[in-house]
Amino acid sequence: MDTYRDARPGGATQLAGGANPAAGGAIQPAGGANPAAGAAIRARGLVKRYGAARAVDGLELTVPRGGVFGLLGPNGAGKTTTIRILATLTRPDAGTAEVMGCDVAAEPRAVRRQIGVTGQFATIDGTLTGTENLVLQGRLLGLSRAAAQNRAGALLAEFGLADAARRAVQSYSGGMRRRLDLACRLVVPPALLFLDEPTTGLDPQSRIAVWATVRELVGQGTTVLLTTQYLDEADQLSDGIAVLDRGRVIAEGTPGQLKEAAGAGVLRVRLADPADRGLAAQLLAAALRVPVAPDSDPAVLTARIAGTGQAGDRHGSAAVAWAIARLAGDGIGVAAFSLGQPSLDEVFLALTGHATSSSTTGSTTGHTTTGGAADSAAGSEPEEAAG
Ligand SMILES: Nc1ncnc2c1ncn2[C@@H]1O[C@H](COP(=O)(O)OP(=O)(O)OP(=O)(O)O)[C@@H](O)[C@H]1O
Ligand SMILES: [Mg+2]
Repeated sequence: MDTYRDARPGGATQLAGGANPAAGGAIQPAGGANPAAGAAIRARGLVKRYGAARAVDGLELTVPRGGVFGLLGPNGAGKTTTIRILATLTRPDAGTAEVMGCDVAAEPRAVRRQIGVTGQFATIDGTLTGTENLVLQGRLLGLSRAAAQNRAGALLAEFGLADAARRAVQSYSGGMRRRLDLACRLVVPPALLFLDEPTTGLDPQSRIAVWATVRELVGQGTTVLLTTQYLDEADQLSDGIAVLDRGRVIAEGTPGQLKEAAGAGVLRVRLADPADRGLAAQLLAAALRVPVAPDSDPAVLTARIAGTGQAGDRHGSAAVAWAIARLAGDGIGVAAFSLGQPSLDEVFLALTGHATSSSTTGSTTGHTTTGGAADSAAGSEPEEAAG
């Protein structure tokens, strides 16, 4: 796959061809839709300004029908603003967007008929009970009273809210409200569902339940656009991902491609003899061209492996294997080593050159993968030397 670095000033780097070829024609657009529009979402040059700031700044995005598409990005990247534009909740200052074949500016009602939105701007009524909220939704969507009651009961059970069904929502915990909000969007499953950080604040059990619900929905033909700050969530659910930064898409691909491009992660080497640590650190640093740090365990060294996405640096694991072999070649015994997955912060750092705003305390020991030329030598040497 290609490098990320060319893409940063301009458009996004396309890592995947068709990230999600499945379910191409699973959902028929509502009447009046453009039959040629195959994508669930097609945004071109979207701009949204707030004062002098651009929350969305020339966003280009195509989301195929069917499956889950993840929008990732640090705080303030423009994820929620993008969803608000696509869901016709706010108008863009420039650019165009089609949602399920309908133009958001020209046909907002047709768009709204096909979508559901939930997340950071939840709209459930706190004075009503869980059941009443769901029944109200069902009635608004044209269900009979009996059908709405049935559907409400089924959803309350599915979302673990049956015991709280008769309580006013204002007495619900934050996680319960989120679950109810999601349930409200599923009374009649939409063709396209926007989920804006659906699991933020949920306990692990509830997160997994939401993931199961999303998968089930997708199995029934709904397309889901998901925003999340959690790479594991995007990893679990998404067929394709776009990474936003400063109102633009800066990278696209599958979860695996993003992680690969962000680097292999953290290498941890346990030496057979702690006395070798000084020499081992020098050899590893020379081999990997990254800072190598002593761990609090006297036999352990750690290094952040930078994958630059450059040709010659495709395989962080190959570079690591070569470096470990160098230790052995110099008579240094390695008891164990592990190569961890990059965290979401590392992915952001590699792609955007800055950490997520929620994680500025992370120690990166002066090494950043900003896509600068300084990294280009690091990856090529091990492969050449190994050959
Ligand atoms: N109504 C508004 N008025 C002024 N500025 C806004 C408004 N909505 C968003 N912004 C700004 O636009 C930028 C993008 O915000 P947005 O909410 O879209 O980001 P986000 O990617 O959803 O972030 P988060 O991860 O924190 O939810 C931010 O700088 C934000 O402060
Ligand atoms: Mg947001």
